[in-house]
Amino acid sequence: MEKVTVILSSKGGSGASFVTAGLGTALAKRGKSVLIADCGFGMREIDLMLGVSDRLVFDMGDVISENCKVENAVYPSDFADGLCVLPAPQENMSVSPDVLKNLLETLDYDYILADCRCDSLAFGLSRYFQTVITVQPEPLSVRCGNRVFLKCRECGANNIRLIINRFSERDFFDKKYFADLDEVIDKVGARLLGVVPEDDILSSAFQKGLPWREKTKALYALDRIAARIDGVAIPLF
Ligand SMILES: Nc1ncnc2c1ncn2[C@@H]1O[C@H](COP(=O)(O)OP(=O)(O)O)[C@@H](O)[C@H]1O
Ligand SMILES: [Mg+2]
Repeated sequence: MEKVTVILSSKGGSGASFVTAGLGTALAKRGKSVLIADCGFGMREIDLMLGVSDRLVFDMGDVISENCKVENAVYPSDFADGLCVLPAPQENMSVSPDVLKNLLETLDYDYILADCRCDSLAFGLSRYFQTVITVQPEPLSVRCGNRVFLKCRECGANNIRLIINRFSERDFFDKKYFADLDEVIDKVGARLLGVVPEDDILSSAFQKGLPWREKTKALYALDRIAARIDGVAIPLF
């Protein structure tokens, strides 16, 4: 797998930031150096989720405006050794995908995960880097997921993968929105990278910015995805 991955939501709230933070933690726990670049310009989240918000002085906006060097805007997280956060600026800022691409490409990490919103910046970045769309197994999210997939393709993306997030077996079979997961995958159009279960423990760890040491349900799934990203051949399920 390539070094930089762009992660974006099918629609707000389908778990792009959750998956980015969880996958970054899982990759770092495999001994890799990982940078999470929060690309939610004007609405940062990852710093709070990964417990570095109290320490922030500089952010990606300062790096792009050349107010500081990139190493001054990178904050290590207690969630895992080797996991760092490059926070988004709190103010809105117009940044072109090319500027961000050039910045991300110069950084020296095993893996860089760009937590994006579903916006033109993410679509522009999808042309340069492998892209993951997070979708919840619900009709509205799946339909948006397909729109996002087509939009990324229109922008030149050719490596787009799908993560089905917030999966609960009971809900899925009770609600009968879809016959099976294959139908979800077909309707979005992107190849499946993994399925992440609903996980309140990890969600509240991210809400509080406090690391959770034991493996949670989602972390098990994210570990398997991380292993596959890291080149280990393990089956999807
Ligand atoms: N797998 C999951 N299990 C439980 N809660 C989740 C899961 N994925 C996301 N959430 C919660 O859903 C909300 C929206 O997720 P978030 O990652 O912020 O979405 P996005 O970045 O796509 O807008 C957050 O409160 C988050 O903790
Ligand atoms: Mg987000």
